[in-house]
Amino acid sequence: MDTVTSLLDSIADVGRDPVRGGYTRPVYSAAELDLRAWFSEQAGRRGLAVDTDRNGILWAWWGEPQRGALVTGSHLDSVPGGGAFDGPLGVASALVAVDVLKARGVEPNRSLAVAVFPEEEGSRFGVACLGSRLLTGAIDADRARNLSDDDGNTLADVARRNGLDPRLLGRDEEALGRIGDFIELHVEQGRGLGEDGPAVAVGSSILGHGRWKLSVHGQGNHAGTTLMEDRQDPMVAAAQIVLAVRQVAAGRRDARATVGRLQPVPGGTNVIASRVDLWLDVRHPDDEVTAGLVEAIHGKAQKIAAFEGCTATLTEESFSGTVQFDAALQRQVGNALPGAPVLATGAGHDAGVLAGFAPSAMVFVRNPTGISHSPEEHVEDADADAGAEALADVLEALL
Ligand code: GLV
Ligand code: MN
Ligand code: MN
Repeated sequence: MDTVTSLLDSIADVGRDPVRGGYTRPVYSAAELDLRAWFSEQAGRRGLAVDTDRNGILWAWWGEPQRGALVTGSHLDSVPGGGAFDGPLGVASALVAVDVLKARGVEPNRSLAVAVFPEEEGSRFGVACLGSRLLTGAIDADRARNLSDDDGNTLADVARRNGLDPRLLGRDEEALGRIGDFIELHVEQGRGLGEDGPAVAVGSSILGHGRWKLSVHGQGNHAGTTLMEDRQDPMVAAAQIVLAVRQVAAGRRDARATVGRLQPVPGGTNVIASRVDLWLDVRHPDDEVTAGLVEAIHGKAQKIAAFEGCTATLTEESFSGTVQFDAALQRQVGNALPGAPVLATGAGHDAGVLAGFAPSAMVFVRNPTGISHSPEEHVEDADADAGAEALADVLEALL
């Protein structure tokens, strides 16, 4: 029988990033397509029937597709230079959990599906959890079709090239109605599970989070001929805005704010940029506080930009309010995993989007480094096995 580690080993060479380290597996890249094919093959080996819905979500069915099924799964796309476990751990564990349930002789009284959600990280089209947002209608389909990647490919184009009809992207009542309960197993992304205690935890909530694009407009010019006092340099404003972001978040308990991506346009060593785009990630348990933090950052950005002879504009790319998982389902998961602590997470997940439409819950597996979205993310083999057993226990209790 496969183990989670043997399954992850079988995809260990897919999407390795020789420049950043770790894995770069953006949605519908060659790497992610390889992983989708790998998933379909693994599901087929287990006798699960795989289909792709109109939003590109993969569903592998044990039993007939039916309303109110039990669904588990995660994602296969990654952030740039991410770790091996964020997403694939949940998918591999779901496949192994099916093996465990079959070995235990479990005969489900409702169908079980393993689902793979595309673009969970939003690293290609900018909107996190794009697959589950499309499925649930949490994103307007026209807006989604027009999202574009860094090379100017729209989601509509990319969907078409991958066999989907872009006109059909968007809320899918039939697929949504099939989710009776959703359970996502995921690598823990902080230091919530200590070295000596249990290897798995039950999720309680997801921290509210959103992404905003801040564009600072200046005057593109020559690095040699433009006197320092004559410049309207958006990079100088952007540098100060990054510091202001930290200052605003540091002044508010439980707030997190990050600028992890910054792009000068046109981006030449001897060119004063005409524009700098910064992407802002802001998180707080209270959604009103998040809105206030973003407003404060925007205000500071405008002042800083004006002082440098520039202007700053802010656009929301996505927002997900704080989610408390369904209390009854969380209790059932907890009962199936006696001794497992209950943990909140600061990371976003498809389970958070689906929670608004079907009872959803999460199981976290220990990450001894406490690091994620980085090659240093890690799960020990024994903990990965414990995670798949725990997922099987949860699924068995719910089947
Ligand atoms: C996804 O991992 C996120 O929290 O942004
Ligand atoms: Mn992630
Ligand atoms: Mn993830």
